[in-house]
Amino acid sequence: MFSISDTYKLADGNEMPALGYGTYLIDTPELMDKSIEEAWKDGYRLFDTAQLYRNEMYLGDAIRRLGLKRDDVFITDKITEMNQGYDTVIESAEFSLQQLGTDYFDLLLVHWPVADKFFDTWRAFEELKKQGKAKSIGVSNYTQSQLELLATQANEMPVVNQIETHPYLTQQPMIDYDKSKDIITQAWSPLGRGLVLDDPMIKKIANHHGKSVAQVILKWQLSRGLSIIPKSQNPDRIKENTELDFDLSDDEITMIDILNKNQRTGNEPELVYELGKQY
Ligand code: A2P
Repeated sequence: MFSISDTYKLADGNEMPALGYGTYLIDTPELMDKSIEEAWKDGYRLFDTAQLYRNEMYLGDAIRRLGLKRDDVFITDKITEMNQGYDTVIESAEFSLQQLGTDYFDLLLVHWPVADKFFDTWRAFEELKKQGKAKSIGVSNYTQSQLELLATQANEMPVVNQIETHPYLTQQPMIDYDKSKDIITQAWSPLGRGLVLDDPMIKKIANHHGKSVAQVILKWQLSRGLSIIPKSQNPDRIKENTELDFDLSDDEITMIDILNKNQRTGNEPELVYELGKQY
């Protein structure tokens, strides 16, 4: 059975909530305040932002305005491509901490792999962890070969890999690889940015359980051992996405597994890596 307070134990010993709230596209302080207030009330403790989203300050302010204790929330942030490289990671992380109004990230991720800054960026992440500014360090949008490359020079490996995955992009081999290396896979756009919400097969499963398509997809993601950070700007749906205390049968899980079409809503990590293009 699922509870909103469920956590995963990371390879570095820290705990991370299984379900978090994604703040991508939340672009005003008012919307951030309203969304974080609803999410907190519903039991979310993990809040995911990124330098790219330009809303770190709104998130920090929302947490402060609600009077939440720093220890009671789990903040994930991501270093953008433009800020990769040793010095710029260190400096921009400092700036992000100021924006958030805190002195540590619970989890800091490399947002996308970039070839020419690849090892220097990670060295800075290891340093930030050593300094206590990042409790846990991880990556986002890394492929198996990029993780294998990183392992050739890393002193410690990422404990989380946040990737795009949903029923039309199941990424099972990547998830299996992460698991074999004790890396928790976290799904961004676990609902495929809405792309999957009209799927007839998932609708049938949802009707059978008296649940929504979104709830079935999120439950399927958890059943795969993933952490999820769904996004919603609607208070009812923010709450709905936490109501996952039902079980899918093995057959239902398999029926969703086979919907895969390798359909991305975001960028191809290998291309970002090769071209170093800012997204
Ligand atoms: P909205 O903000 O109007 O709720 P993802 O997290 O995969 O990127 O998906 C985000 C999209 O899914 C948003 O467009 C969001 O719209 C929508 N969404 C989130 N939760 C639900 C839900 N429970 N039911 C329907 N749509 C949802």
